[in-house]
Amino acid sequence: MNAPDNHQTVLTFRDVAMTFPGTAVPIRALVGVTFAMEPGEFVAIVGPSGCGKSTLLAIAAGLRTPSSGDVTLGGDSVVGRPGKVSFMPQRDLLLPWLRALDNAALPLELAGTPRRVARARAAETFSHFGLTGFEEHWPAQLSGGMRQRVALLRTFLIGHSTVLLDEPFGALDALTRAQLHLWVQEVWHPRQRSILLVTHDVDEALFLADRVLVMSSRPGTIVREVTSPFDRPRRVALFADERFARLKADLLDALAREGAEAPQQ
Ligand SMILES: Nc1ncnc2c1ncn2[C@@H]1O[C@H](COP(=O)(O)OP(=O)(O)O)[C@@H](O)[C@H]1O
Ligand SMILES: [Mg+2]
Repeated sequence: MNAPDNHQTVLTFRDVAMTFPGTAVPIRALVGVTFAMEPGEFVAIVGPSGCGKSTLLAIAAGLRTPSSGDVTLGGDSVVGRPGKVSFMPQRDLLLPWLRALDNAALPLELAGTPRRVARARAAETFSHFGLTGFEEHWPAQLSGGMRQRVALLRTFLIGHSTVLLDEPFGALDALTRAQLHLWVQEVWHPRQRSILLVTHDVDEALFLADRVLVMSSRPGTIVREVTSPFDRPRRVALFADERFARLKADLLDALAREGAEAPQQ
């Protein structure tokens, strides 16, 4: 797959490989990962557990240095340079000793924004995320879906145009997840933000993304690319669409060939 590197692309992965030393033998997590995201595009990556998805996002976030290859944002390498993209790591938990608003404001504060200003900016965003009235709640007082929304809000608040999300809905029940899928479409403004979402849920990938990439089992590499051609906003009825079912079968087939676990539904 080609990775054009021009003004039409925002985030470009070029031949990214990662090998961890391991205790006995080296662990090859990623090999030859090459693809490019366009500005405002929503790309989902699905792949078997342990194939290197989180490692790939950590590299793009500048938090891990690949063994070889490069990731560029607008033409500049982000390797070893955190803070260029917004990143929500897998299991991004709220700090239990901070109220919802303070949890949301924390990354801004850590980036040097005065506390009062950070809280005010976070507070403005609460209503967009359907969280008005919950600013002073403790995380334990929020439902699972609300906690995830606060964590997402915190990620979006950082304000970078490229957002990396590592399985943000993985731990939620199916109904809450479905509600958040609809909600993500409302808060995400295509063209303004590019999103790279890692998920193990093929339905979620097809429903939310413009393009779905399938990763092989370890060492992870992109083995299949499927465009999700459906109009936006997408409705729940899409799940009953014949074309959706065909694309889903295509993706599940590609995953099954990689030895991924059987589909969850
Ligand atoms: N810091 C590390 N040291 C050694 N091995 C690691 C490290 N981080 C991840 N791995 C290994 O790399 C592989 C890919 O991990 P990960 O990126 O978390 O996969 P995924 O997110 O797709 O489940 C796994 O086999 C994992 O055990
Ligand atoms: Mg992971």
